[in-house]
Amino acid sequence: MFVVVGVTGGIAAYKTVQLVRLLVKAGHEVHVVPTDDALRFVGLPTWEAISRHPVTTSVHDDVARVRHVSLGRAADLVIVAPATANTLAKMTAGLADDLLGTTLLATTAPVVVAPAMHTEMWQHPATADNMRVLRDRGVVVVGPEEGELTGGDSGPGRMSEPEAIIEAALAAAALTAGDLEGLRVVVSAGGTREPIDPVRYIGNRSSGRQGVAVALAAAERGADVVLVAAHVDDGVLTDAPAGGRIRVVRAGTAAELGAAVASEAGAADVVIMAAAVADYRVAQVSPTKRAKEAAPEGGITLDLVENDDILAGLVRTRPPGQIVVGFAAETPGDGETLLDRGRRKAARKGTDLLAVNEVGWSQGFESGHNAVTIIDAAGEIVGARRGSKRDVADALWDAVLAVRAKK
Ligand code: CTP
Repeated sequence: MFVVVGVTGGIAAYKTVQLVRLLVKAGHEVHVVPTDDALRFVGLPTWEAISRHPVTTSVHDDVARVRHVSLGRAADLVIVAPATANTLAKMTAGLADDLLGTTLLATTAPVVVAPAMHTEMWQHPATADNMRVLRDRGVVVVGPEEGELTGGDSGPGRMSEPEAIIEAALAAAALTAGDLEGLRVVVSAGGTREPIDPVRYIGNRSSGRQGVAVALAAAERGADVVLVAAHVDDGVLTDAPAGGRIRVVRAGTAAELGAAVASEAGAADVVIMAAAVADYRVAQVSPTKRAKEAAPEGGITLDLVENDDILAGLVRTRPPGQIVVGFAAETPGDGETLLDRGRRKAARKGTDLLAVNEVGWSQGFESGHNAVTIIDAAGEIVGARRGSKRDVADALWDAVLAVRAKK
C-alpha cells in the first residue's frame, strides 16, 4: 500500500520513526511529509533513511513532478502523527501552505490522525470543534491517550502508540475493499432500560461492546450500518472510528428499540440483534418519583408485563432473503448444556444464526473479550470463536457471508 505519513511539530514525532519503520517492515511504500516544525524534533535524514524515499516539506521542491498533489493522489492511506492542535485547525480550514497541507487536500484516501498536545489544548473548545468537523468528514481519530506529558503534567494528550495507530489506519484503509461492500445492515447494541419512575429503571449489565464491535467490523468490511444503540457504557461509542459508515439511532426502552429496529430493518440485508433487551417492563410507570413514605412497610411489589420479542417479530415480518441473527446469553446449569438451550432458542425464534455465549457473574459483560458458538437455523455449529469482541464480530460476519452464499 502507498502510505503517506504526515509528521507535525510535536515531541511525539520520535514515536513516528517507529511507526514508519513498522509500516516499511510490513511491506508498505511509505512517504514521509514532515512540516518545517517537525524537523526541529526529528531531522530530515532520519525520515529519508527510515522511509527509504526522499523527503521534503515544501511545495517548491520537485515541482516538475507536481509533488504538491501527486503524493495525495497516489496515497491509499494518509496518517498524520503526531497531529498538533495547529495542524488539526489547518486541516479543518483546508489550509495548504506547505506540502502536507496540499497533500491532504489532494487526497481521497482515508485520513487517520493521531493527536498529541497538552491537555488544555486538547480540551479547548476550538480544538473540540475542529475534531467534530474532521470526524464528520470521515477523518479517523486515534487517541490521544491519557498519561504523563512532557511538562510533567498529565491528562489526555499523549500520542497513541505506533501499533495502535497502524491498526486503526489499516482498518480504515480496508474500508475501501471489504467483503461486505454494498450490504445494508442493522445492528442493535447495549442494554435497554425500563423506567420505574422518572429517576429509576430496571437495566442489565450489557456494556454494548459486543454489539458496537459487530457494527464496527461490518463498517470496516464495507457495509453501510445502522447501529440502534440502547444504553452503552461511556467511551464505547465515542471510541468507535465510524469512518462515516455507521449511522447511530438511540433507543432507551425495549419498546423504543423494537420500533427503531423495525423501521430500519425493512431496507436491510442483514439484521443482528446484539442488544440485551429487557423481557419485562414495569406495568405502571409512576409519573413522579415513588416515595418511600407512600409505600407499604417492609417492601413493595412491582408488576411487570412481558415485552414483545423483537427478534422473533423480525423473523416473522422480514423481507425475502434477509438474514436475521440473534445472540443468546446463557448461564450453564440444570443439567442442560449451553448449546441445548441455544438450539431451543434458535428454533423458538427462527433465527438464521444464533451466537451462543456463556455469561455469569464474572463472564461476558463489561470486558473486551468473549467466546461464542454460532449455530444455524438447523442447530448445526457453523462457527466458534474465543477472543476479542472484534474477533467474535468478524467470525459472526464470516458466518453471515456463508449463509448468504447458500441462499
Ligand atoms: N431479544 C429480543 N427481544 C426481547 C428479548 C430478547 O429481540 N424481548 C433478542 C436479543 O437481542 C437476543 C435474543 O433475543 O438477540 C436472545 O436474547 P435472550 O435474552 O438470550 O433470550 P430471551 O428470549 O430473553 O430468553 P431467556 O431470557 O429466557 O433466555
